[in-house]
Amino acid sequence: KTIDSLGDLRGKRVLVRSDFNVPLDGTKITDDGRIRAALPTLTRLTDAGARVVVLAHLGRPKGTPDPQYSLAPVAARLGELLGQDVALAQDLVGPSAKATVEALADGQVALLENVRFDARETSKVDAERAELAGELAQLADAFVSDGFGVVHRKQASVYDIAQVLPAAAGDLVLNEVQSLSKATGDPERPYAVVLGGSKVSDKLGVIANLLTKADRLLIGGGMVFTFLAAKGRPVGNSLLENDQIETVKGYLATAEANGVEIVLPTDIVAADSFAADAPHQVVAADAIPDGTMGLDIGPESGKLFAAKLADAKTIAWNGPMGVFEFEAFADGTKAVAQGIIDATAAGGFSIVGGGDSAAAVRVLGFDKAGFSHISTGGGASLELLEGKELPGLTVLAD
Ligand code: 3PG
Repeated sequence: KTIDSLGDLRGKRVLVRSDFNVPLDGTKITDDGRIRAALPTLTRLTDAGARVVVLAHLGRPKGTPDPQYSLAPVAARLGELLGQDVALAQDLVGPSAKATVEALADGQVALLENVRFDARETSKVDAERAELAGELAQLADAFVSDGFGVVHRKQASVYDIAQVLPAAAGDLVLNEVQSLSKATGDPERPYAVVLGGSKVSDKLGVIANLLTKADRLLIGGGMVFTFLAAKGRPVGNSLLENDQIETVKGYLATAEANGVEIVLPTDIVAADSFAADAPHQVVAADAIPDGTMGLDIGPESGKLFAAKLADAKTIAWNGPMGVFEFEAFADGTKAVAQGIIDATAAGGFSIVGGGDSAAAVRVLGFDKAGFSHISTGGGASLELLEGKELPGLTVLAD
């Protein structure tokens, strides 16, 4: 259901769940991408004359108010971007929230304090979440779900609330789902997926699913060493998940049986220690010396990966190829980002999964416009690629 299904919103109180889980340095927001991504839905609602009450979480507080997770910096930034003061209620469903909502005029926006300050938000007990949803519902006439980054969470402000108020998907959620469905539905082929990041265990579900869907799987990042170890190669002191080696052997066998090409790096940047200035050398991927750790894929691998992406018509990327935060170990991630940009310019459709890869695009200075879609969701986009049904989406279905 879309916002149109909610009818005339003039003078109505609309509760919007956004994902404002932004990185902070103290109280300074270091990347406001998620706040910007929420603006189209919010301005659409204010233009329609709605009284907009935004709900969001920040971090993982322990179900009780904790000043370091206050949404105050978000309220200030949101106000700047919207060009209007955004009042921040000091609580979620208490007297401050009620007074703040009461004071809203048509077209104004207010923010409630961090929804995770209430333990019922993330409770596993249905009745506890339902109770909070019921209290939130008293503050509004309709609900718009626009926090794509949380739609994989069965939480009161994402899932339960949509069952007690007239509910609809916001424009960000719609746009994300439409873009990601180009990969999860019937992708144009060749369909290439680049996976990185530190742990295989974080990506088990997605890899298993991709082995039935993708044409090529390019593996880099810390998880690659478990793949190399599964092939019997020495990995030195590199990150290794011993308990995943058998699983990875299974993946390699399934890939072969299904005709999915698994592309592993042929060279590795091996460092003496995990540090920005660690002495390092490029070594063959099957000969990582004892006492060194791989912190990036090597230059030959960067070229190989770019070549494997060049003719792809659908590309999904999740996870950096190396420790891109250290300049010496950023080249692999740069090569992949550039390879994806080139493939996109040549007519491919590219999706960057949120979290670390989106941060890499930003930190390494790539133009976001070079990619077809950069998701605001980390876990949520991964779970969609995994083929899972997400509670925050199913609850909005007609
Ligand atoms: C995210 O940052 O991926 C979302 O905001 C979800 O946060 P969570 O993993 O703490 O639920």
